[in-house]
Amino acid sequence: MPERLAIDGGTPVRSSVLPYGRQQIDDEDVAAVVAALRSAWLTTGPAVEEFERKFSEYVGASHAVAVSSGTAALHAAMDAVDLKAGDEVIVTPMTFAASANCIVYCGGTPVFADVEPGTLLLDPAQVEAKITPRTRAVVAVDYTGQPAALDELLQICRKHDLVLIEDACHALGAEYHGRKVGSIADMTVFSFHPVKHITTGEGGMITTNRDDLAGSMKRFRNHGITSDFKQRAQTGSYYYEMVELGYNYRLTDLQCALGVTQLHKLPGWLERRRAFAAQYNEAFGGMNGVTPLKVRQNVLHAYHLYVAKFEASDKTHDRDWIFKALRAEGIGVNVHYIPVHLHPYYRKTWGTGEGLCPVAEAAYSKIISLPMFNGMSDGDLADVIASVEKLHL
Ligand SMILES: Cc1ncc(COP(=O)(O)O)c(C=O)c1O
Repeated sequence: MPERLAIDGGTPVRSSVLPYGRQQIDDEDVAAVVAALRSAWLTTGPAVEEFERKFSEYVGASHAVAVSSGTAALHAAMDAVDLKAGDEVIVTPMTFAASANCIVYCGGTPVFADVEPGTLLLDPAQVEAKITPRTRAVVAVDYTGQPAALDELLQICRKHDLVLIEDACHALGAEYHGRKVGSIADMTVFSFHPVKHITTGEGGMITTNRDDLAGSMKRFRNHGITSDFKQRAQTGSYYYEMVELGYNYRLTDLQCALGVTQLHKLPGWLERRRAFAAQYNEAFGGMNGVTPLKVRQNVLHAYHLYVAKFEASDKTHDRDWIFKALRAEGIGVNVHYIPVHLHPYYRKTWGTGEGLCPVAEAAYSKIISLPMFNGMSDGDLADVIASVEKLHL
């Protein structure tokens, strides 16, 4: 007799809900933020430079530009492309809306290209098929923490003179053919939202090896002004020039101080995430109804998310039922993502809809993200596996 499921009134596997992701803050982090609070600089101070320097060294890029969120990072990167009205940018639909929204912020036209079925990463062949004389850039997402097909995408971008923006908000610490993401695309974007690998509350970073793009993004985060407050304090000058339109997208010293101490802990945290993923893979390898996403050759996955396709073998239950059944067991599952081109804004404003990216749409009806964060215990992981097992898919 199978155990009664919590969704049917049985006893849940867990009495408290395990979230799908959450931050980890320790005494070192708290002390660093308190020290920044007591310092002379709450913003545009030395902690910003320190975080940028350590971050660029970690990923192996020449420049890192800290901004107030991953969304601001995408906006700054897209602004640096210098789109003209009607210019097109190709983007994956299997992402958070901000990856496409940044194109619209900058007056561009978003063009959705479909993903590969096994990895749900942007499909280079689909990108090539969507290129027109108006195409200026490609936004590829390292979905779940696996690097996009960077060699193939860079080859296409070089051939057609396009800028490659890599949205690595899921992929801090991931490696592609032995190189860390952040040093490969023209610009790489990161987020420090609390569910990401490291957090600054809200926060983001763009890395690049190009001096011109770094300069443009540093102005953009500071109203389009050529110097910041600290530089003027050092030279004793009041004079500054606003040379282009920008925003206040600065990241504070309090946040950067936290970023520095979080970054110290990243290598150990990545190991934990990879170990959890290996245990999930092993458990689901012998289970019906659960298909983990494929991992490409020569990459080191950063596992921001652990996504699998779920399908009951007798087809009596769909993804939404499986989602609810796991939630009832106390497992805080999630779905990443509703394909961006299916959101009402994109349908209404850009005429997108079903059929535009059939692979992403088919995957969306099956995917579930299971809990994945460094602070999870081995017992938490065992609860997730037991809950999936209990469904007898
Ligand atoms: C792929 C992707 N891009 C961009 C963002 C936006 O980052 P933020 O929330 O820091 O603005 C996120 C955050 O959820 C994301 O997952």
